[in-house]
Amino acid sequence: MTQSTLITRIGELVTNDGDRAAITDAALVIEEDRVAWTGPAARAPAADSVVDAGGRAVLPGFVDSHAHLVFAGERSAEFAARMAGRAYQAGGILVTVAATRAATDVTLRANLRRLAAEMLRQGTTTFECKSGYGLTVPDEQRGVKLAAEVTPEVTYLGAHVVPPEFAGDVAGYVDLVCGPMLAACAPHARWVDVFCEDGAFGADEAAAVLAAGRAAGLVPRVHANQLGPGPGVRVAAEAGAASADHCTFLTDADIDALTSTPVVATLLPGAEFGTRQPFPDARRLLDAGATVALATDCNPGSSFTSSMPFCIALAVRDMRMTTQEAVWAATAGGAAALRRPDVGHLGVGARADLILLDAPSHAFLAYRPGVPQVAAVWQAGRLAAGSA
Ligand code: NIG
Ligand code: FE
Repeated sequence: MTQSTLITRIGELVTNDGDRAAITDAALVIEEDRVAWTGPAARAPAADSVVDAGGRAVLPGFVDSHAHLVFAGERSAEFAARMAGRAYQAGGILVTVAATRAATDVTLRANLRRLAAEMLRQGTTTFECKSGYGLTVPDEQRGVKLAAEVTPEVTYLGAHVVPPEFAGDVAGYVDLVCGPMLAACAPHARWVDVFCEDGAFGADEAAAVLAAGRAAGLVPRVHANQLGPGPGVRVAAEAGAASADHCTFLTDADIDALTSTPVVATLLPGAEFGTRQPFPDARRLLDAGATVALATDCNPGSSFTSSMPFCIALAVRDMRMTTQEAVWAATAGGAAALRRPDVGHLGVGARADLILLDAPSHAFLAYRPGVPQVAAVWQAGRLAAGSA
């Protein structure tokens, strides 16, 4: 028998659904794992059980389309040194690589599950998870396999940096990434990613990694233009990537590439916060017509936050996104970056992934930064965190 739940007296219901993108005095019906009805509370149909939102806001669960959660150790000393004036360098990644290689499966799994639970409590109902701190065939395979335990959105990031045993032999490492390492990882992943940046992989190497990944059935996404201007966005567009991530330093040609192709521009303001870099120019992207997503980039180096509300607050305060744009980017934008039409919105038929805020509107996410305001989280129709 079908089980239904009516959530009623919703002060503001953000649906991201066409001309009914936000409804006030609203209600929503969940049937099994899907959204079955949305509309004015006064016209709500009956259901098996009723939740009274008491004027609070309901939003789609956050879709965090960029996270590096399979790792061991932490780099708080590096962060503290950076805040004291030291520059961020991609080389810090190798500190985490050493710790991750040395860790047991039990340690990695416990860390991963703790972070996934932390995300859920903060309203994230879909997240992507990358490998990339193993950088050997068995360690990368272990990374994607562990990630697959917690999410279907698994990304093979063997091309994160060149590990020490291949120092001076980038070509040799790229061969490994495109050959035996890919073969070991592809069965457990949906996506292939590459860090295209000075100090990591250049345009030709990145294109080779993405082409090999594609040939193995993976869809490309790219760490692009994070630490300086570079070829990352162009490489992403040419590879038919789902998303170019970071986009901190963009030329006019990069903006053209992001508006003339379906590549989503994924902005990761936690990384700019954690590295004290300039924030990406979200207004320029939005005004040019690009599809923008917001994600945490949760990782122990550049951005050790799992909080989408924090990223929304940064996007609104420091990137001049409107509160509506930031919430859209953190939900529907992330879903676009992961090519997931079933999440990121609350149209009828969507997966019933939604959050109840302890606040009357979505704007409170930026208006009250740092305050836990996610009261309850439903995932696929089931109350998964908090209480209504
Ligand atoms: O997205 N850019 C490369 N990778 C991560 C940083 C990883 C780290 O510092 O450990 C990022 O910022
Ligand atoms: Fe990243």
